[in-house]
Amino acid sequence: MWSALYGALVVAAVTAVCGGYSEDFFSSTSRLEQLVGQEEVVVDKLERYLEEAYHSLETVRSYVTSFREMRAGSSIHHPVEAFLMLRRLTVDWDIVEDDLRRQANQTQETLRSIGGFRADRPFPEADDLHGAAVALIRLQDTYQLNMTQLPRGHIASFGPEPAAEFQSAQELTARDCLFIGRHAFSRGLYDAAIEWFEAALWRTEEEPEGAVTATRDEIEPLLTSTIKLHDSVLEEQGPRGEDWRTNPVPIDRRLAEQERYQPPRLAVFRPRLHQPQAEAEEEEHYQRLCRGERLRSPAEEADLSCHLTSNDSPLLLLSPLRVEVLSRQPYIVMLHQLVTETEVSQFQELAGPRLATSRHRHPDGEFVASMSRISKNAWIPDDEDPTGMLARVTRRVAASSGLKCDNDMAAEAFQVANYGIGGLYVTHTDHHMAEVPRGPHAHWETMIGDRLATWMVYLSDVPAGGATVFPRAGVTVWPERGSVAFWWNLNAAGKGDDDTRHAACPVLHGSKWVSNKWIHYNEQFRTKPCGLTPDAIHQTP
Ligand SMILES: *[C@@H]1O[C@H](CO)[C@@H](O)[C@H](O)[C@H]1NC(C)=O
Ligand SMILES: *[C@@H]1O[C@H](CO)[C@@H](O)[C@H](O)[C@H]1NC(C)=O
Repeated sequence: MWSALYGALVVAAVTAVCGGYSEDFFSSTSRLEQLVGQEEVVVDKLERYLEEAYHSLETVRSYVTSFREMRAGSSIHHPVEAFLMLRRLTVDWDIVEDDLRRQANQTQETLRSIGGFRADRPFPEADDLHGAAVALIRLQDTYQLNMTQLPRGHIASFGPEPAAEFQSAQELTARDCLFIGRHAFSRGLYDAAIEWFEAALWRTEEEPEGAVTATRDEIEPLLTSTIKLHDSVLEEQGPRGEDWRTNPVPIDRRLAEQERYQPPRLAVFRPRLHQPQAEAEEEEHYQRLCRGERLRSPAEEADLSCHLTSNDSPLLLLSPLRVEVLSRQPYIVMLHQLVTETEVSQFQELAGPRLATSRHRHPDGEFVASMSRISKNAWIPDDEDPTGMLARVTRRVAASSGLKCDNDMAAEAFQVANYGIGGLYVTHTDHHMAEVPRGPHAHWETMIGDRLATWMVYLSDVPAGGATVFPRAGVTVWPERGSVAFWWNLNAAGKGDDDTRHAACPVLHGSKWVSNKWIHYNEQFRTKPCGLTPDAIHQTP
């Protein structure tokens, strides 16, 4: 549901951007890095302008000073003063006028030069800023970031590594917090709106007098009316719905004292795995897994292990797969360090220039861009890589999965994705044919069969956030550069396993790169027999 909520936020905005075929910035760090370079060029131009302007203004200033000094003390009846005044109004004046003109010209030139530079390169638009605001709201929500620290640019990492802290060079102003709060408000995220308005309030107290970005008078009425609305929505409609969300308990103390908001009546979270989950429930599992909470019983986790195997492939005899079993059912493994450092860099180099806003399949079969998948991606066929690296890795995909990958019917081209601030992919399955019987590619898809297995290599470490999680299986996979997450989407009989529903958690800090290869069912009939029972599943490598 929140996915739908957040989704609705910027779908319109993103669609508008994509409709004009200009690419947004916020959805990939790769694009944001380019933008830093662009801003630097503009700042260099401004700096040159400032130097020249400073020089011109110096002449004007000394003219002004000279006149003021004369007025302060001397008499125009003095012949020297008379001479100096006439000099000022003739020779000096010409210089002043020249300098003013030069400065006007310089201003024009700078505007033209920056304009020309920007015309050739897209700059961010309002939609990008909205996207970034939504990303902050979502990050705060998913990772329960401390609202005393976040506006100061301070965040702590999540994950298996020792906790790290990240401090931004600059902090959010009171006006920034107000802006983000208004955003949350207009999306019906009343709980988040209140937190951001409160942050705006204490930020403004900290701002030096004379440099206050938003006043108490501006913020307080918003906060008060949002709290009122929050409580009345909660009382009348409950804490969550299609297009609103509140805290579980009213802000108003008197209201909060009511019986129905007392602890035993409030739902306590209990994981429900290996069964269908309602949307809100799935979101709750997703967020907890993203934060690294463990949802499986110790008994289920005790059944997991690591092993080495060549998976019956001559290619892997000398360097066997380092398999870490993350889940037995569905079978999900991490294949550690299967792709080399050099290959990882080559993947990024090949994909960089081709990245475009990710689209995913809408229920009606069309591919659309939306906030449910915030990343940029590129498809790269093996034969478009002159170095032969992709073909080599494809052979490794085949060897490590035990599946045929050597033609278009057996496996798709590598898809490389780069996630930006708050970049994520909401929960979905990779197999899709049950849901989309008649998409634009239906004929081809019927022929090649559904996506039997997913082979996904992480092309970067992610310092904070960005895990891959399976809400129904209760699994969190932390990105590890060069390692591969592999799982079976279909059982041996070719039926989709909905416990493989998975999602990409928002990136909290860093840049996340992955590449996927999807392996299809129909071409595997020689190597992967259907199994003895209808429910038999593959559990290799
Ligand atoms: C403005 O400056 C440019 C280059 O600095 C020069 O070519 C041009 O003649 C100037 N125009 C005027 C009106 O001074
Ligand atoms: C948030 O951070 C502040 C300052 O570091 C700390 O005092 C406070 O206890 C933290 N709040 C929570 C809920 O952890």
